[in-house]
Amino acid sequence: MKIHLPRWVSIALLCALLPGLYNGLKETHYRLDAGVSPEEIRIVFLSDLHDCAWGEDMDGLLSAVDGQRPDLVLLGGDLFSDGPSSENTVRFLEGIAGRYPCYYVTGNHEYAGGAEAFAARMAVLEGLRIPRLSGEMAEIEVKGVRLNLCGVDDPAAWTGGFDPAAAGWASFEEQLEHVSALPRNSGYTILLSHRPEKYDLYCSYDFDLVLAGHAHGGQWAVPGLLNGVYAPGQGYFPKYAGGRFEKDGTVMIVGRGLARAARHVPRFYNPPEMVVIDLY
Ligand SMILES: [Fe+2]
Repeated sequence: MKIHLPRWVSIALLCALLPGLYNGLKETHYRLDAGVSPEEIRIVFLSDLHDCAWGEDMDGLLSAVDGQRPDLVLLGGDLFSDGPSSENTVRFLEGIAGRYPCYYVTGNHEYAGGAEAFAARMAVLEGLRIPRLSGEMAEIEVKGVRLNLCGVDDPAAWTGGFDPAAAGWASFEEQLEHVSALPRNSGYTILLSHRPEKYDLYCSYDFDLVLAGHAHGGQWAVPGLLNGVYAPGQGYFPKYAGGRFEKDGTVMIVGRGLARAARHVPRFYNPPEMVVIDLY
C-alpha cells in the first residue's frame, strides 16, 4: 500500500525532521550555588567522546573548551574508543592537559578489549599527567576555594574478563563507600561517576554534585515531549538521559556526550553536548 502525502505535508515533515539531525556542538550552561561567592568557578564537563573527530586535530572541540576559559575540566569516561587506537581522543587530551587542571574517571568503554587495551588507555592519561580518580578523593583549590573531588571507576571494571579482585581493586560500591567516608575539608563535594542510573545510591551519601554521562541523551529526543528514547543501563524512556536532577540535596548533571558519529543509530534532536557549570 502506497501512502501519498500532500506536497505541503511532505515539506512540513522535512522541515520538522531535518533540524533533528544537527550534530554540531551544543553548549549547555548551569549555575549552581556552592557557597563560593564572590568567586565563581567554571567547570567544563565532558564525556562519551568515543574517539570521534571534531575538526582537524580536534580543533573544533579544543577551541570550544578554550572559549569557556574553564578553571577545571572534568572528564566523565568513555572518551576512548573500543579499538586499539584512539587518535582523536589522544589529540584532544594532549590539547587540554597542562592547560587546565583535568581529572578523569573511567567509563565502560575504557575496559573494552581486555586488560592490555585498558592499560594502554590508562598509560595515555598517566603520560599526560591527568589523574584518574579510582575510588579516590582529590582535595583541590581553585581560585582560593577548596573543593573535594571524588571519583569512582565504572562498574564494567568488574566484568569482561578482568580480575579486579586479583588486582586489588575495590568494587564500585566499596569505592563509593570509601570516598564518601573520607574526611573532608569544609568545601563543596563533587562526585565524578560515569553511570547516571546509580543516582539513588549517590543520594544516600553526602555529595553536593554528581557528574555523569553514559546515556548519550537517550539517542533520540522529542523537544518538549520526550527526554530520550533509550539509554544503556536504563532501557527505554530513560529517566536520566541528560540534564539536571535534584534529590535529597544532591544535584546530578548528566551530560549527553560528545560522540557525533552514529554508533548504532543517529542522534535525533539530541546534539553532542559540552556541559559548562558555574559554581557561585
Ligand atoms: Fe558508557
